[in-house]
Amino acid sequence: MDFEMEDVPVCDVIYQPTEKAKYNAHLSSFDEYKKLYDESIRDPESFWKKMAHETLSWDIPFQKVSSGSFQDANIKWFEDGYLNACYNCVDRHANKNPNKVAIYWEGDQTSESRSISYLEMKNEICRLANYLESIGVKKGDCVAIYMPMIPEAVYAMLACVRIGAIHSVVFGGFSDEALKDRIIDAKCRVVITADEGVRGGKVIHLKNIVDQAIESVEFVKTVLVVKRTGEPSIQMKADRDVWYHEKVSTQSKDHKPVSMNSEDLLFILYTSGSTGKPKGVAHSTAGYLLYASLTFKYVFNYAENDIFGCMADVGWITGHSYVVYGPLCNGATIVLFDSTPFYPDASRYWQVVDKALRKAGDAFPLKYDLSSLRVLGSVGEPINPEAWQWYYDKIGRNKCALVDTYWQTETGGIVITPISSVTPTKPGAATLPFFGIEPALLDPHSGHEISGNGVCGVLAIKSPWPSITRTVYGDHERYKMTYFTQYPGYYFTGDSAARDSNGYYWIRGRVDDVINVSGHRLSTAEIENALINYPECAEAAVIGKPDEITGQSICVFCILRNPNIDKEKAKTDIIKQVRKSIGPIATPKSVYLVPDLPKTRSGKIMRRLLRKIVSGETNFGDLTTLSDPSIINKINIIVSQ
Ligand code: WTA
Repeated sequence: MDFEMEDVPVCDVIYQPTEKAKYNAHLSSFDEYKKLYDESIRDPESFWKKMAHETLSWDIPFQKVSSGSFQDANIKWFEDGYLNACYNCVDRHANKNPNKVAIYWEGDQTSESRSISYLEMKNEICRLANYLESIGVKKGDCVAIYMPMIPEAVYAMLACVRIGAIHSVVFGGFSDEALKDRIIDAKCRVVITADEGVRGGKVIHLKNIVDQAIESVEFVKTVLVVKRTGEPSIQMKADRDVWYHEKVSTQSKDHKPVSMNSEDLLFILYTSGSTGKPKGVAHSTAGYLLYASLTFKYVFNYAENDIFGCMADVGWITGHSYVVYGPLCNGATIVLFDSTPFYPDASRYWQVVDKALRKAGDAFPLKYDLSSLRVLGSVGEPINPEAWQWYYDKIGRNKCALVDTYWQTETGGIVITPISSVTPTKPGAATLPFFGIEPALLDPHSGHEISGNGVCGVLAIKSPWPSITRTVYGDHERYKMTYFTQYPGYYFTGDSAARDSNGYYWIRGRVDDVINVSGHRLSTAEIENALINYPECAEAAVIGKPDEITGQSICVFCILRNPNIDKEKAKTDIIKQVRKSIGPIATPKSVYLVPDLPKTRSGKIMRRLLRKIVSGETNFGDLTTLSDPSIINKINIIVSQ
């Protein structure tokens, strides 16, 4: 484990919630947060029972609140209740406010946008649900979704959920090989995709990638293709590929949602861990939906008629919980953004903020421009105090709350965060736990809990909450091993953190071999496995290198079989190999061709030393286990060239 004791941050800058942040607040004071938080920990059964009744619409209300434990890896919430998540996110709002805008879509070009009302969204989802049922998709089946950020991606997710199918969204930045692995792992018989995606002016050939991915996967029976760009050269394979607009629009707009048990799986989402291939993190229906919905409401202090823009892609957990499930369960208007923050220029987000208000329809009078912002969020990687301050001053203009939200694919929703309306914030701190979350800092070696303030340790959570992942799809043993075995009785996050003198949490980053590039989670093992397929590579080690823009970047050290081959070509081939196996999101930024790697006497690669070399450190710590100390100098010379 890569844990080094760091200093606990000392920070005198504290921002009290602004007037704006208190607008229509669900909590009136910081004390009220503390009181509710204490209740949620002292008596979780009563707390969650009340929240679940208030927040969700049930077909059959639950009697039992929770059961199971981390030790037995058998956690259940609301296990005798029945509900449908699509009904909760769509129908109940469409019935009440049919014309309210559900999705404000902003395409890649600034001229492309659409507004879709709750009723329109419901009709579209029902048509797709009817179509999926007509081709035999049923409760418990997995459906792969490989799409751009277009409204049909949201329809696809919710249509699956409506009929009880489990969706597996695969981010469009993954390659055909990565997509194939995920389709095979979940045995998806249906893939929903688009002809092409366009991002930052660049075309992503989604349908072609799907074709390559499933070339030899015989159990995929249907590929449903949305026409996004209308590219005429798209090949449709007879008896397998169908156009969405041809098949779906003719279906009935009425469909009765399937009543699901609380613990039936809602979706799986693949994510990287420290070992092996990506795992299908599985979430259950009621617990996940409740937690996503509540965190959305409290953390961002959602008020009716707010437009909520979360710029994450639905291919990631942030897109699941805070583009789709959390906001829609609350009946909010979401922004679906199908571009990049830098296209056509770096002001794109702020253009969208202004435009979403004006274009979303008459329901949203032009009261504000950028000043409409009330709450700013940050997620996915530690935000340094300077970046925090810039965001707070320049975008929030010192009037908005800034919430640094910490969580993971596995936690389903935000677990450590300020509540925007009440929590005093410090630049760079994720602050305090959300309701029901009991964080603990553990000594990495003994596993003992470290009490008191002004301490650091590995971050764990002490007791189950509703949206914790229930299993690794198809591999429950791996679930137990990954999260509950190293520190028995705790959920282990894989991150380290500090708790400062006020009890505020500061997340430090991963202590395992997971790299975080622009919030994209990748494992060194996965990239190293990809490199083994490059025939010239004898051995490789991958590390995350600190990067000003992306937080970390991928750095490859490779020993060539034949050191005399063209080095520049070898470097390009190495980069290509990773892009082919995983996708463009895993493109290495630096490649070093080295004569050897630092290893222990027993042959384990000491990545810790490689990390120190690339960050220019000269203190290498304890080197007694290193088999050949001269390697450090050799690599140092190559890196500094
Ligand atoms: C990191 C993304 C610091 C962390 C929601 C975690 C963060 C991993 C923060 C999960 C934050 C997420 N501050 N680090 N506010 N939020 N992380 O599964 O290392 O894609 O373990 O979920 O991102 O990444 P994932």
